[in-house]
Amino acid sequence: MLKIDLTGKVIVVTGGGTGLGRSMTESFVQCGAQVAICGRRTQVVEETARALGPAVRAYTCDVRSWESVDAFLSQVVQDFGKLDAVVNNAAGNFLAASETLSPRAFRAVVEIVLMGTFHVSRWAGAYWIEKRLPGHILNIVTTYTDTGCAFVLPSAAAKAGVQALTLSLAYEWAPYGIRANAIAPGPFPTEGAWSRLMPGKDFEEMYLKRLPTGRYGNHAELGALAAFLLSDLAPYITGAVIPIDGAERLQGAMFNYLAQISDRESLKNIFESMRQAAKAAQQSP
Ligand code: HXC
Ligand code: NAP
Repeated sequence: MLKIDLTGKVIVVTGGGTGLGRSMTESFVQCGAQVAICGRRTQVVEETARALGPAVRAYTCDVRSWESVDAFLSQVVQDFGKLDAVVNNAAGNFLAASETLSPRAFRAVVEIVLMGTFHVSRWAGAYWIEKRLPGHILNIVTTYTDTGCAFVLPSAAAKAGVQALTLSLAYEWAPYGIRANAIAPGPFPTEGAWSRLMPGKDFEEMYLKRLPTGRYGNHAELGALAAFLLSDLAPYITGAVIPIDGAERLQGAMFNYLAQISDRESLKNIFESMRQAAKAAQQSP
């Protein structure tokens, strides 16, 4: 039986105390890994580590600060004796009209998302290169890195930067045996995201209607993808940006609006009458 095995691997998950970071940590542990999680709130990461068991250790770290990341990752290497992969999951986001954003508000998100990812990737990459060890950088982006996205300008700009960082490092560090990939999740309910990005029940109903699968993602689905990418089953996957969104991002394609007609039989009838009309038009002189 093919099985995702992360036994013996030491994985860092930034923002691992809550939401998707916590869920990915749980999946990694189920596959046999040891995980170092970090966040700014000590109590939150410590509670998560306690809940997930002895394979998880909690660290206080602010990824916006190079000094904090340096201290955190040095401590991880000291505690575990090695480091195999980093998952850049920590993020900040909120809804705002872009014309009202203060420079500090824009910077608040960019510093967590883009600078944080750079700090952790830069530290880990230099460590692996110096020690002549393989490594893996897995970045959590979003499905709007190519399109941009209204009302989340700082996040859209920062995540696009993280995507470019992923692709750049995948090529540059491939000769050292370092992989760099990104996962682009669609909507996965978490307290952190929903409290900042989902204005209320009415909006949620409106939003659910546009999901072609009719549902949100389950955290375990994301955990399985992340675990697979970090495992020895995926050594040739690098420089990939993999969406996991139930095709949500594709709703803008030209004729996808027709999927909103839930009665598929009448839709088929419409197509058939159009086909007959086109045939008749072609046959008439
Ligand atoms: C406008 C805002 C704001 C808001 C803060 N600011 N919140 N401006 N609208 N909702 C402004 C402040 O007024 C201030 O500017 C500046 O931003 C810094 O504010 P602080 O509160 O000091 O920032 P900080 O404590 O660093 O907090 C960062 C944060 C916060 C991003 C604002 O929300 C946070 O800590 N978030 C972490 C968790 C998180 O966001 N999780 C969601 C990830 S979900 P001034 O000029 O007034 O001083 C995600 C999903 C993507 O990314 C895709 C979904 C489908
Ligand atoms: P979340 O629970 O709010 O997670 C964000 C985490 O980042 C928190 O644990 C937070 O902990 C940590 N963090 C924030 N700033 C930090 C800093 N400066 N240093 C260290 N840690 C910091 O939200 P989530 O929904 O799980 O999001 C996780 C990831 O998935 C993010 O990258 C997000 O962009 C991405 N994503 C989520 C969705 C979704 O639908 N949920 C969709 C697409 C992408 P502290 O506050 O304690 O620091």
